Amino acid sequence: MSLTSTPTTSGSDRLYTFVGGKSGPWKVTSCLPVKGDTLPPADRMEVLQGTLTSPPHDTSWMLQGVTSNERYVTRDEKTQLVARQVALGRPEARCAAFIPIRKNAAWWAMTQDERRAVFEDRSHHIQTGLKYLPGVARRLHHCRDLGEQGPFDFLTYFDYPQTEITAFEDLVAALRATEEWKYVGREVDVRLVWDGA
Ligand code: HEM
Repeated sequence: MSLTSTPTTSGSDRLYTFVGGKSGPWKVTSCLPVKGDTLPPADRMEVLQGTLTSPPHDTSWMLQGVTSNERYVTRDEKTQLVARQVALGRPEARCAAFIPIRKNAAWWAMTQDERRAVFEDRSHHIQTGLKYLPGVARRLHHCRDLGEQGPFDFLTYFDYPQTEITAFEDLVAALRATEEWKYVGREVDVRLVWDGA
């Protein structure tokens, strides 16, 4: 992105744009293809909220998603999540992970109750994730709500203090070993550190 054209945003608070390129406060420390193709190389990343009124230039990649209503959580799970979760952007949360994910056609061919059975009854995504709160903060962005032609279905984004680095590795390893992840067709794992540059 050129220094002379800082992108500006307006409206649509649920829309987030993740921009990989040469600028942004997050320094990319690694970008690994967990499954399928990786992303083009980028030195830095920034996260923009709202509709882009002036799109960024000179980017390596740009991915968009919207926050949305929950699809799977029960009332009891929601109560546990709300009691433990914290917002992104704590001053001590200098580490982040940006993990775009695409699920395969078999996942989307299932009904909602079938997906919930895989996601929680058999893979325990929420029960596993809850153990890592409040150390890890998270936000889930849906891409399919913007159309099905994009490269990913979900943009997952997390931040955490340095003291949680090992815990975060344990969390992603646990989730990737589940039945839910058999339906993941593409996943890229981008790790970042905040230096505010
Ligand atoms: C920090 C702990 C975590 C917690 C508490 C957590 C919790 C949740 C919850 C509650 C949902 C369902 C939202 C709904 O009802 O629609 C969800 C969805 C999802 N999470 Fe996590 N999660 C965590 C970590 C992760 C990690 C590390 C990844 C990626 C490696 C991930 C990837 C996803 C994806 C892709 C979905 C969407 C699933 C779908 O709709 O098919 N989560 N998570």
